[in-house]
Amino acid sequence: MEKLRIKGGAPLKGTVTISGSKNASLPIMTAAILAEGKSVLRGVPALRDVKTMGALLAGMGARFAFEDSSDSSLAEIDTSGLNNPVAVYELVKTMRASVLVLGPLAAKHGRAKVSLPGGCAIGARPINMHLAGLEKMGASVELEGGYVLLKAKRLKGASIYFDVPTVTGTENLMMAAALAKGVTVLENAAREPEVIDLANTLVEMGAKIEGAGGSLIEIEGVDELKPFSHDVIPDRIETATFAVGAAITGGDILIKNVIPEHFDAVSIKLRETGAEVKKTPAGLKVKGRGRPESVNITTMPYPGFPTDVQAQFMALMCIAMGTSRINETVFENRFMHASELQRMGAEIEIQGGIATVKGVPALKGAEVMATDLRASASLVLAALAAKGESVVHRIYHLDRGYEQMEKKLLALGADVQRIS
Ligand code: EPU
Repeated sequence: MEKLRIKGGAPLKGTVTISGSKNASLPIMTAAILAEGKSVLRGVPALRDVKTMGALLAGMGARFAFEDSSDSSLAEIDTSGLNNPVAVYELVKTMRASVLVLGPLAAKHGRAKVSLPGGCAIGARPINMHLAGLEKMGASVELEGGYVLLKAKRLKGASIYFDVPTVTGTENLMMAAALAKGVTVLENAAREPEVIDLANTLVEMGAKIEGAGGSLIEIEGVDELKPFSHDVIPDRIETATFAVGAAITGGDILIKNVIPEHFDAVSIKLRETGAEVKKTPAGLKVKGRGRPESVNITTMPYPGFPTDVQAQFMALMCIAMGTSRINETVFENRFMHASELQRMGAEIEIQGGIATVKGVPALKGAEVMATDLRASASLVLAALAAKGESVVHRIYHLDRGYEQMEKKLLALGADVQRIS
């Protein structure tokens, strides 16, 4: 298994270009199912999850091709041959976002057999709201042998209220509603930029959608959608990760390919720690200034502070002056990185969904183990700031969601090496 060896202490300096958003690319790739023919998504990051989604679509009979050159990358999905609407456990267990095929398959093919994703390192993560919404639109859903068996005639519009805003749930039902008969209203919908990017793609395909980005989305179903050709938005979580990287190492970086508004909650909190965060025409400039001030955060659905940046921010708080309180409200078990950070000398106490982090003057290099994608990013950041050498094991988690992380870090002056 591959690992990263990191010698801490070098401040990140220079320019980094952010890749396309993973969590926008995945639902948009499944939206291709809603049309017959070849869709093109540009700016797609070359990540393990993107390849898994490609394999999932190819397993259904679609043709998936990924082209990656130094200055651009694109995914082509030709759904003309899609005739086997099955998502097998072997793929779904490695990537929960596989459930995003449910809505499009229900709407376009009227049947689907999709493995239930099961538990996950950050929480139970059920898909009950996805399924209840599809049932409300007229689909019949049965669970058998760990699989969701879905059958539907043409779906019909419905009023659906989400008990909590769910990102992939909103995306799944928005895609299903795009081809349903009549009007669907999604209330208490997720407002994430990735939901907006998917809605923009669907509109490009001929869908009628209003309100994406707000908590009430109205979709008037159409009879047919055409393939898309779309540029995916930049990854706001990767942006945040590099920004925290500059703050934690006392560095000074320019982050290119950013939509700064997608990053507001994190910018504000980073400024409170004493870091300088400036929007410039060239990109976002982030400069660290000595030991950070301690700052409290509470994770929330967008536009709140993203749960996907909680682990990285915790790494920063480990070396803050004073004590900070990190309240995780989105997932029930997203503190697995804390015990690994403790191995590097961090002082963290967890009680339920709240982590109390007492800043120490410096972390110390250690061997640590990544448990999920954002936890691995947190450990890499901690290692960059730590005294001495660290080895981050199970780096395959990082490869699921960060494109060429170590190359980008090397270019910023970090001492990082991938070892087998
Ligand atoms: N939930 C339910 N029932 C459902 C759906 C969700 O109870 O049917 C709960 C979840 O258990 C959780 C909360 O609702 O407590 C919100 O979860 P959500 O459904 O929004 O999460 P998701 O759609 O499965 C996406 C991202 C995650 C990100 C979350 C929250 C994708 C592919 N994944 O997951 O990204 O953490 O939204 O913002 O978009 C990551 O990239 O590292 C990652 C985990």
